[in-house]
Amino acid sequence: MAKIIRGGTMVTAADTYQADVLLEGEKIAAIGEGLDVSGAEVIDAAGCYVFPGGVDPHTHLDMPFGGTVTADDFETGTRAAAFGGTTTIIDFCLSTKGEPLRQAIAAWHQKAANKAVIDYGFHLMVAEANDQVLEELQDVVQTEGITSLKVFMAYKNVFQADDETLFKTLVRARELGALVQVHAENGDVIDYLTRQALAAGNTDPIYHARTRPPEAEGEATGRAAALAALADSQLYVVHVTCAEAVQQIAQARERGWKVYGETCPQYLTLDISCLEKPDFEGAKYVWSPPLRDKFHQEVLWNALKSGILQTVGSDQCSFNFRGQKDLGRGDFTKIPNGGPVIEDRFGLLYSEGVHAGRISLNQFVDVVSTKAAKLFGLFPRKGTIAVGSDADIVIFDPGIRRTISAETHHMNVDYNPFEGMEVQGEVVSVLSRGEYVVRDKQFVGHPGAGKYLKREPFQRP
Ligand code: URP
Ligand code: ZN
Ligand code: ZN
Repeated sequence: MAKIIRGGTMVTAADTYQADVLLEGEKIAAIGEGLDVSGAEVIDAAGCYVFPGGVDPHTHLDMPFGGTVTADDFETGTRAAAFGGTTTIIDFCLSTKGEPLRQAIAAWHQKAANKAVIDYGFHLMVAEANDQVLEELQDVVQTEGITSLKVFMAYKNVFQADDETLFKTLVRARELGALVQVHAENGDVIDYLTRQALAAGNTDPIYHARTRPPEAEGEATGRAAALAALADSQLYVVHVTCAEAVQQIAQARERGWKVYGETCPQYLTLDISCLEKPDFEGAKYVWSPPLRDKFHQEVLWNALKSGILQTVGSDQCSFNFRGQKDLGRGDFTKIPNGGPVIEDRFGLLYSEGVHAGRISLNQFVDVVSTKAAKLFGLFPRKGTIAVGSDADIVIFDPGIRRTISAETHHMNVDYNPFEGMEVQGEVVSVLSRGEYVVRDKQFVGHPGAGKYLKREPFQRP
């Protein structure tokens, strides 16, 4: 049945205006004042914003890490994402050296199919760039529609690739129209600093941050940008945390290089002091790269506002405090890295960004939805409200004030890193391709309703 979203304030990355939105089947069919179609269900959005569904370009669902597996899988993770206003995710498909890429991708399809409640795509990790892998990448991009390739510059002896792998991947990405993503930290230096810390008996969570200084992130970011320029290719730096990395991205962009950057809500709102919480609670805040000194937050907000950084991903990678994070008691290197953010990404960005006066409403939509859709070959199908686009819609009440808590969140994990934070605004209803997933704050979606998204090749936005 057709649906009309009536009386709301429609917001895209470009415009804010009063309009009704007609949804027919999976698509947006019309936008205008006073729309009326006989038999259509009318959804009252008076007093609410009508946003395009959020696009989260960085998630790890059902992912093995550090001898354990993330607490959220594609069902619980996408369900929580929908509650928070996200209707599309792009998850990282891991691969290992020697494994055919098709096999790695098939394993990830297996994790997602019949579970996801919203649409999803995959990025593919490149562990080594031998001739077979470089050959296989053609199929990955052209047949699988995986048009972004991830190279880790850190996690020595686990995921870390060398510069030759990064450079060859950048060259191949240029040929195929793919965007190369990097986890930019100098893994060799971090490995050395880590061994020194442990040898000195420094085993608490705070040493995770102290052994991964911002200079190690800035150096790797600059190196990756230079290699991208040398390859005449395109680069996307995931989870940027600090002034040192922002400076490298700004410089690259001033030179006209195709270099883009993403930050995450945790780096915009939390700081390194969280890792010093007593009773091992600091482990809840172990991310790589780590939380930084507070002054970096303003640098990141300004970089989003000025367009040096383009997107905000959740880097969803949840582990329970009890039974998972506590594997690292007495040795911070054994704390699984990552945290649960998929549900709060959209709301935190609205509250700390728009409500707090740091970014405009349209910039909010751009960084939480539109730019990721553009960079990752999904626009205008996703990331906007336009005739012909998928009917992925969030109805958001900016008048509600609420408190974030693990007691009320929907992620399958026993803590929330933003526990107790008061935020302005709440997602009321969410539609994915014209069907409700969340209706008046109740889940009405279906595991398996989310579709796999084959994405278009990279185009400079
Ligand atoms: O600590 C983090 N960020 N965990 C997820 C894996 C990654 O590096 O993105
Ligand atoms: Zn990473
Ligand atoms: Zn990540």
